[in-house]
Amino acid sequence: MLASFEVAGELPAGALAVRLVAEGPAPFTAATSLPEHLAASRGFRGKEGDSLVLEGPGGLEALVGVGPAGDFGLPEARRAGATAVRARGTERAIAIDLRGVVSGEPARLAQAVTEGAAGASYRFEAYKSSRESNDLERVVLVVGEGEQAATEEGIGWGRAIAEAVNFARDLSNRAPTDLTPSEFARMASELAGSTGLVAEVMEKDRIVAERLGGLLGVGRGSDEDPRLVRLSYEPDASVARSGPDGRLPTVVLVGKGITFDSGGLSLKPPEGMIGMKGDMGGAAAVVAAISACRALKVGVRVVAIAPTTENMPSGKAIKPGDVLKIRNGKTIEVLNTDAEGRLVLADGLSLAVEEEPDAIVDVATLTGAVVVALGRKVAGVMGNDSAVVGGIEAASERAGEPFWRLPLPRAYRKEIDSEIADIKNVGRARQAGSLIAGLVLEEFVSDRPWAHLDIAGVSETEEDAFEYRRGATAFGVRTLVEFLRGFEAVGEAGRLADHVKVG
Ligand code: BES
Ligand code: MN
Ligand code: ZN
Repeated sequence: MLASFEVAGELPAGALAVRLVAEGPAPFTAATSLPEHLAASRGFRGKEGDSLVLEGPGGLEALVGVGPAGDFGLPEARRAGATAVRARGTERAIAIDLRGVVSGEPARLAQAVTEGAAGASYRFEAYKSSRESNDLERVVLVVGEGEQAATEEGIGWGRAIAEAVNFARDLSNRAPTDLTPSEFARMASELAGSTGLVAEVMEKDRIVAERLGGLLGVGRGSDEDPRLVRLSYEPDASVARSGPDGRLPTVVLVGKGITFDSGGLSLKPPEGMIGMKGDMGGAAAVVAAISACRALKVGVRVVAIAPTTENMPSGKAIKPGDVLKIRNGKTIEVLNTDAEGRLVLADGLSLAVEEEPDAIVDVATLTGAVVVALGRKVAGVMGNDSAVVGGIEAASERAGEPFWRLPLPRAYRKEIDSEIADIKNVGRARQAGSLIAGLVLEEFVSDRPWAHLDIAGVSETEEDAFEYRRGATAFGVRTLVEFLRGFEAVGEAGRLADHVKVG
C-alpha cells in the first residue's frame, strides 16, 4: 500500500520535518541556524544521499543532502524524496519542505519527489512469515501559496507512476512457480480492469489459431501453457491529440514475458539461472506503463502486447536445429534455445505491426551481452528511427532511467543468415550479442518506427539505494510513461540517418 501524499503550506505537527540541503562548505556563519551548525560538526555536507536527524528548535528535523545546488533537476528531486524516506528511521509521517526549491515546474517537482518517496518505501513481503511493521503512512509536501494546486496535480501523476512501478516490481519478485503465464495474464487483466483499459488474453488454442509459432515453440517444453496478453488504452475525447495526418496516433508496446528462463534444452548453468524468474520484466513494464495512461491523461492510443511463457527443457521441448514459423510468415532456425526472448518478441512485434502504429517500443531482458557492455545501471536502446529512439532518450532523462544508444550495423545482418530458414536466432558466440538480438527483432517490425530497450542488466538490483529496493527495479516503466506523455508522431521525418545506422 502506498502512503498517503498531501500538500501543505506550513510544516505540520506530527510529521518529521525534512529539509533539503545543498552541498557546500561547512556553513559556519553568523546566519547559520543551530541545526546546520550541528550538522556540519557531525560531517554532514549536503552530499547527495546523505542525511542526518537532529533535534531542531521545533522538534525532530531531518536534513537531506541533494548535492551541488546548481544541479537540482527532476532526477535529483526523485532521489531527494527517496532519501527523505530512508532518513525517517521509525517515523511514520514525514513533511518534505520544498519551499526553498526553485523550480519552474512545481507539478513535475512534486511528481518526482512522490515517485522517489514511494519507490524507496516499497517492500516485497509476500513470502515473509512476519511483516515489517513500520510502514511509511504519510508524506506531506510543503510548498509556497501559489504552488499548491500544481503540487496536488503532480502528486497525482507521481502516485499513478509509483503504483505502476510497484506493481511491476511485485510481478518480477514473485516466485516463478507462482507467477506462471496464466497468473501473469490474470494479474494483468485485473490491473486493466481497475485502470480503464480493455484486456484480451489469448490461451493456447487461440495462440495456435493465430499462428504465433515463436511463442508456441518456446512454450513447448513446459507443463504450463503460454498466454498472450493484449491491453489497450483509448484516450478520452477531451485529451486525444492528432498526428500530422489528423488521425489519433497509436503506440504499441511489446514486452518479453518469460516467467522463467531455464535456457530450455540449451540449459543454463546453475548460476546463470538465478534471477531468471525476472525474465518477464519487459512484459511487466509494458503492462504497468499502459496502466498509468488514464491517470496521466495520455493523448494517444496505446496497445501493450505481452507474449508470456516459460522456457523449459523436456521431451517436448524445441531442439537446437528446429525451425519455427513466426506470425508474419518468416522462419527462424533455432540453434540455441536460450535465445528465446527474440522468438516470442518476433510474434509480439508482428502483431504490433498489424495495428499500423506510429511507433513500436519493445522492452526485454534480452541479452547477457548488454550486462557486459553497460553494467547494472544503464540500459541499451536500439532502433530504426531517430525520432522514436530520440524520444526514448529524452523521456529517459526526465524519468531518471539511463539508456545508452547502440547501433544496428547493416554489416552484421549476414551473421543471422541461415542455411535452411529465413534467419537463425543466434550469431557468433561472444560477438555483439545485443546488436545481433536487435537485428533479429528488426526483421519483424516491417517498416514501422521502432525502438528496442534491452533491460537485462538493470531489471534487478542488489542495492537498497535511492528509489530502488533490493530485487526488481521495474526499470523502463517511468521512461515508457514519459515517452507516451510526450509522444508526437513525426512520420517519415524520423528515419535514422545513415551515419547512425552503422555499417
Ligand atoms: N534472459 C536471458 C538474458 C539475460 C541474461 C537476462 C542475464 C538477464 C540477465 C536471455 O534469454 C538469454 O539467455 N540470452 C542469451 C543469448 C545467447 C544464447 C545468444 C545470453 O545472453 O547469453
Ligand atoms: Mn534465455
Ligand atoms: Zn531469456
